[in-house]
Amino acid sequence: MTQIALFSSGNGTNAENIAKYFDKNTQIEVSLLVSNDQNAYVHQRAKALNIPSYSFSKNEIMEGSQLLRLLSDYSIDYIILAGFLLKVPDTLLEKYPNRIINIHPALLPKYGGKGMYGDRVHKKVIEMGDTKSGITIHYVNDKYDEGEIIFQSSCDILPQDTYEDVSKKVHKLEYAHFPRVIENVILGNR
Ligand code: GAR
Repeated sequence: MTQIALFSSGNGTNAENIAKYFDKNTQIEVSLLVSNDQNAYVHQRAKALNIPSYSFSKNEIMEGSQLLRLLSDYSIDYIILAGFLLKVPDTLLEKYPNRIINIHPALLPKYGGKGMYGDRVHKKVIEMGDTKSGITIHYVNDKYDEGEIIFQSSCDILPQDTYEDVSKKVHKLEYAHFPRVIENVILGNR
């Protein structure tokens, strides 16, 4: 059984969607949720799904030792960043080479980098008058949003769309593709 840990900083709809997708899967199990915010709503989702969830401060995450111990206690093989807004520390990258996967709510290399997350990305897409946006699923390296791209999918943006509309379309793509892409990577069928 491959064990995965989900990292989420906020609402956690992707985390919940992934956990539900792998519920009863015989090869892949979501065994842990990690957040950098103890008040994040994702903890309530984890509780309802019977997934143990933990919080670490930004400093604890950057320092890494407690987090690495926790991941090792749960025999974690892959880390999935599902709306996780902090940079992944080098200690974690070294321990999990090509085993940390992120989803970004835009078509990278557009609108990536530090400070580009969630609605900020969608607002920028509207501001720039783009006619398409989408999702990018990629391996995590030591630079924000620059790891090797695994999968992208796009959606149209209509002239009247607000950033909320774009957010809805992008979330829809995330729910449809992210779990399956994770499964394919883990099972080696890319
Ligand atoms: C998702 O749209 C995800 O792509 C984005 O945060 C949202 C979290 O939503 N991630 C980033 O912006 C990372 N740079 P959720 O908490 O409802 O899953």
